[in-house]
Amino acid sequence: MVYENILVEKREHITLITINRPKALNALNSKTLTELDQAMDEIALDSTVRVVIITGSGEKSFVAGADISEMNEKTPMEARYFSQLGHKLMNKIEALPQPVIAAVNGFALGGGLELAMACDIRLASENALFGQPEVNLGIVAGFGGTQRLPRLVGNGRATEILLTAEPLDANEAYRMGLVNRVYTKEELLDETMKMAQKIASKAPIAVQLTKSAIYKGENMDLISGQAYEAEVFAETFNTEDRKNGFKAFLEKKQVVFQGK
Ligand code: CAA
Repeated sequence: MVYENILVEKREHITLITINRPKALNALNSKTLTELDQAMDEIALDSTVRVVIITGSGEKSFVAGADISEMNEKTPMEARYFSQLGHKLMNKIEALPQPVIAAVNGFALGGGLELAMACDIRLASENALFGQPEVNLGIVAGFGGTQRLPRLVGNGRATEILLTAEPLDANEAYRMGLVNRVYTKEELLDETMKMAQKIASKAPIAVQLTKSAIYKGENMDLISGQAYEAEVFAETFNTEDRKNGFKAFLEKKQVVFQGK
């Protein structure tokens, strides 16, 4: 598929998606949301992809939010549809079988932070800036910020971030667990790639079922979550990867997983 606003590059088992509207600091307009949605559908059906990375083009910005110029023209009905388009994408990223890492290389504001929060792991460069500035514009966060931010950092912190619109730098985001690691600008993509390669070297079915159990569990009580975990645990026992993984351990050999 040829895209206008995103670059999709496959490096062995890793797909790197770069949001590529640098003149608008990679702001998410409808076309970009739709292209990302289509890219997710392609990846979901490609069993050779084991890990996805999402980043922004240029030195300055991951994503500086939903596109304010486009939103300026919208009626309330169109705004609702735009919000739902964002939710559809964010939920699709979360439900993608493969893990998704956000390499946050600069501004992650509004829809940019919401996109990063829909990813499974967030790594940031030192110049990254996180925030939900929607109330500065007279609107509410619309791509899941009011829902995912409290789940990630707790109600008190999320409310402060959403209501004051004050941005957080990478170290503050790290301290509150919003990002897993912080690197220099120069290191970020290489380090993200290294983490992606590490995950891609693990048993792919086990990786995907682990991701699935984490999200299923969020919406379940402990006992139901454990019941789901027991099911996916059992499912892995039929896989070639599990058989080869156990055999290699017992024979003190290295294993290369096939995703079968
Ligand atoms: N939408 C559309 N265009 C944007 C944009 C956005 N979210 N953010 C930046 N741009 C554009 C600017 O309009 C500017 O375009 P021109 O050169 O054509 O004027 C270009 O990107 C560069 O931006 P700046 O000159 O402003 O760059 P800066 O370095 O001085 O400032 C910034 C950077 C602090 C990120 C500033 O651009 C800014 O505040 N952007 C808006 C951030 C924001 O409010 N995001 C939330 C949007 S609402 C949202 O996301 C709702 C939701 O939840 C769905």
